[in-house]
Amino acid sequence: MSDIKTVGVIGCGLMGAGISQVAAMTGHRTRVLEVNREVLDRGLARIRKFLDDGVAKQKVTPEVREATLANLVPAASFADLADCDVVVEAIIENLDEKRKVYAAIEAVVGEATILCSNTSSLCITELAAATTRPDRFAGLHFFNPVPLMKLVEVIRALTTTDETYQKVAAFGQALGKQVVTAPDRPGFIVNRLLVPYMLDAVRAYENGLGSLEDIDNAMKLGCGHPMGPFTLLDFVGLDTTYYIANIMFDEYKEPQYAAPPLLKRMVLAGRLGRKSGRGFYDYAKA
Ligand code: CAA
Ligand code: NAD
Repeated sequence: MSDIKTVGVIGCGLMGAGISQVAAMTGHRTRVLEVNREVLDRGLARIRKFLDDGVAKQKVTPEVREATLANLVPAASFADLADCDVVVEAIIENLDEKRKVYAAIEAVVGEATILCSNTSSLCITELAAATTRPDRFAGLHFFNPVPLMKLVEVIRALTTTDETYQKVAAFGQALGKQVVTAPDRPGFIVNRLLVPYMLDAVRAYENGLGSLEDIDNAMKLGCGHPMGPFTLLDFVGLDTTYYIANIMFDEYKEPQYAAPPLLKRMVLAGRLGRKSGRGFYDYAKA
C-alpha cells in the first residue's frame, strides 16, 4: 500500500502529461507545473484527448474521465507543489536544467517529500547529490505512452534509503505499473538495450540498408515489434534520443552509444519526430 496521496509533476511534455494522467487516474491529487501556462494547456489538452478517445473506445468510463480531470490541478509556480508527498521531475534530459528545478522545488516542499526523476539516462546518484535530500531521491522511469505501457523502472541512487526505495516502489505499483528495480547505470535496463538498437537502425539507414518504410516493416513484421525503429524514434522524440545517446556515450565511451551524424542533423534542423510534426516521417501530411 502506498501512503502517497498528493503528487507533483514537473514538466507536462510527452512524459509529464502521461505521468500526470496516470497519477490522477489512480486517485492521486496531482499538481502539474510547466514553463508557462500555454505549454501546460497543451499538455493538459493531450490528456483530455487521450481520455476522450478512451471513452470513445470504451476503455475508459465517463466517470473515470471526470474523476481524473478533477484530480488534475494546474500549478502556476513551484509554491503550488508545496504539499506534495512525492514530486516527479519530467523535464528535458539536461543535468543543469534538472539541478535548477530541484533547487526551486526543495525551497518549497516539506522535509518528508520524496523527489523522483523520470530521466532516461542521467546518473541517479549525481541527481540525488544535487539535492539536499539524497536519501529521499530515486529514479522512477516510465515508458511512452505512459498510460498504456505497463512497466516502471525504479532506480536507487547509492544514497537512497531502503525506506525511500520501498515508498517509491509502492507508489509505482499504486500507479498500476509493474515495477522492475534497475541499476544506476546509464539507460538502466530498457534503454541500455533499446537505445543502441535505435541508433544502429539510423546508422544502417545512413549506410543504405533500405528505405525507412522497408526497415520499419521488416522489424514489425519479421520480429513482431509493435513499431519499426524509425516510427519508434519519431515517437520517443529525436531530441530526447540524441540527449540520451550523448549521456550514454559520455559514460560508456563505446561506439554503439555514439549519436549518428544524421540524428544530430535532424535535431539541429528541428525535425524532432511526432511532437514537432516531422522526424523521419512527415506527420503534417497525416
Ligand atoms: N485510452 C485507453 N486505452 C487506449 C487508448 C485510450 N485513449 N488508446 C488506445 N488504447 C488501448 C487500445 O484499446 C488497445 O487496448 P487492447 O490491447 O486491450 O486492445 C491498446 O491501448 C493499444 O492501442 P491501439 O491498438 O490503438 O494502438 P497500437 O496497437 O497501435 O499500440 C502502442 C500503440 C501501445 C503505442 C504500440 O505501438 C507500442 O507499444 N509501441 C511501442 C512503444 C514503445 O516501445 N515505448 C517505449 C519507448 S522507450 C521509452 O519510453 C523509454 C525512454 O526513456 C526513451
Ligand atoms: P518533452 O520535450 O516532450 O517535454 C519536456 C517538457 O519539460 C517540455 O514541455 C518543457 O517545457 C518542460 N520543461 C523544461 N524545463 C522546465 C522547467 N524548468 N519547469 C517545468 N517544465 C519544464 O520531453 P519528454 O519526452 O517528456 O522527456 C522528459 C523526460 O523524460 C526526460 O528526462 C526524458 O529523458 C525522459 N523520458 C522520455 C521518454 C520518451 O519516450 N520521450 C521516455 C522515458 C523517459
